[in-house]
Amino acid sequence: MATDAQPIARAGGFYEELPAGCGAYKFYLDGAWRESSSGKQVSISNPTTQGVAFRVQACTPAEVDLMFEAAKAAQKPWARTPLWKRAQALHAAARLMREHPQPIADALVAEVAKPRKDSMAEVIRSADLIDYTAEEGVRYLGEGKLLTSDSFPGNERNKLCLESRVPLGVVLCIPPFNYPVNLAVSKIAPALMAGNAVVIKPPTQGSVAAIHMIQCFHRAGLPPGVINLATGRGSEIGDYLTTHSSAGCISFTGGDTGIAICKKASMVPLQMELGGKDVCIVCADADIALAARSIVKGAFSYSGQRCTAVKIVLVENAVAEELVDQVLEGVRQLTVGSPEDDASITPVISKSSADFIESLVHDARAKGARLRMDYRREGNLIWPLVVDDVTEGMRLAWEEPFGPVLPVMRVEGVEQAVAHCNASELALQGCVFTRDVERAVRISDAMETGSVQINAAPARGPDHFPFQGFRASGIGSQGIRNSLQMMTKVKSTVINLATPSYTMG
Ligand code: G3H
Repeated sequence: MATDAQPIARAGGFYEELPAGCGAYKFYLDGAWRESSSGKQVSISNPTTQGVAFRVQACTPAEVDLMFEAAKAAQKPWARTPLWKRAQALHAAARLMREHPQPIADALVAEVAKPRKDSMAEVIRSADLIDYTAEEGVRYLGEGKLLTSDSFPGNERNKLCLESRVPLGVVLCIPPFNYPVNLAVSKIAPALMAGNAVVIKPPTQGSVAAIHMIQCFHRAGLPPGVINLATGRGSEIGDYLTTHSSAGCISFTGGDTGIAICKKASMVPLQMELGGKDVCIVCADADIALAARSIVKGAFSYSGQRCTAVKIVLVENAVAEELVDQVLEGVRQLTVGSPEDDASITPVISKSSADFIESLVHDARAKGARLRMDYRREGNLIWPLVVDDVTEGMRLAWEEPFGPVLPVMRVEGVEQAVAHCNASELALQGCVFTRDVERAVRISDAMETGSVQINAAPARGPDHFPFQGFRASGIGSQGIRNSLQMMTKVKSTVINLATPSYTMG
C-alpha cells in the first residue's frame, strides 16, 4: 500500500532545517543544507509498506564538483587544526548523536526496515565508534618514528629520518543500506580524524538516516566543506563520484558495485568490503546447543542482511541431525512482522532482493534440497527458512541470499568443510565450533577468510577489531586503527647533519 512521504524532522527541533518545503530532504554542501538545482527528487521506498518513505534531492554532477571543490578548500586548514581540536569536534558530534538519536533510528526503521531496537543500537554504536576513533586518533596520529642512518650498512649517524602520517585529501565514503549510519561513521570518523575532508554518498535507502547523522556533525561545528553529502541515484552520479579526479581515497561497503569501482577508480587507495559467504563449520565434538543458538542469531539477525551473517552451515554428519533440530527449534521462536513492532524477521530491502532470495530457494528445491519449513513470502517479507541437504551444485552453496534463508550442507569431515570454504570466491568471515582448542586453531589456520571466529558466529564488532575480506570480499582492512592508517600516507622528513650525531661528548 503506497503511503506519502512524511519527513521525520519536526519544526523547531534539532533537525528542523533538513527537509525542504516540498518535503524532500536537502543535501549538504560547504556547511549548508541545500536544494538541488536539478529540481528533481528521488523517492525512497519503505520496504514494509512498499510506499514512499521519504524523498531526497537528486544531485547533479555539477553539485558533486562543488562538493569536491569545497572539500579540497576546507581540507588543508582542517589538517592543520590540532589533533586534539579535531578529536573535540568528533566527540561533540558523538554527544549530539546520543542526545538526538530518535529521528536517526526512526529513519532506519522506515527506510531499511531495521527493527526498532536494532536501529537505536546502530545509532549508539555509531556514537561509540566516533568517540573511540577520536581517542585512538590522537594517540596513533600523534606518534611518529625516528630512524637513524647508521642502522643501514655503510652509513654514519648523520641522517635522521622523521616518519609521520599525513592525510590523503578528500575521502569518498560510500556506505551500504544495511548500516547506513554505522558504516558511514566507520569511514567518516577516521577520515576526519586523520585530517581529510569527506564527500559521502549514502545508499538511496538509508539516505535520510545518514542526513540526520550528518546534522550532528554540522551542529558540532565542523568547518564548512569538511563534510559534504550527496544524494541521488547511484546510476546517475555513482560513476561521476567514484572517478572524480579530486577523490583521494574511496572507502566503500556494498556488493558487486565495488568490483566495478575498483576497475574504474584512478590510482587512489581503496578500502572495499564487498560481502561474504560466511561459513559456519560445526565439528562433531562441538557444544551443539551453543552452535545452534549462535547460528540462529548469526543467520537471522536483521533478516540475514549482514555481510557477516552465517550464510552456510557445514556440519559433520555425526551431529547434523541434532544440530538441525536445535536450529529449527530456535528459528521457530523468531517473530515475523514489521520493524516498528520489533519483529525478529522484517521485510528485506526491496522486491528485487526478495525475488533473488526466492530464486535461490527454488533452485535448491529443484535440485533436491529439503526445505525444513514451509517457504512463505508476502511482498518483501520472507519467513525464515532452513534449507537442508544443500549440495555443491546448488546456487545456495555459493551465493549469499542476504535474506532469512539458511542453507545447511552435511559433510563427511572437517576437510570437506574447509575445502568448501576455500573454494568460495567470497571470503569475509567464517566460524568454527569445536570443544578442542587445538583443532579450532588448526581449522582457523586452514580457512582462507579474513576473520575466523571460534565458538561464536561471525561479526564485525567490536568496531576496533581488524575487519577484512579476502578474494572477492574486499581490499584493505577496516577497524578503527586500520582505517586511520589506511586514510593517511607516510611522509618522511630527513634531517641531514654535517657530522655524525654522536661526535660530541
Ligand atoms: O554488513 C556488513 C557489516 O559490516 C556487518 O556488521 O557484523 O556488526 O553486523 P555486523
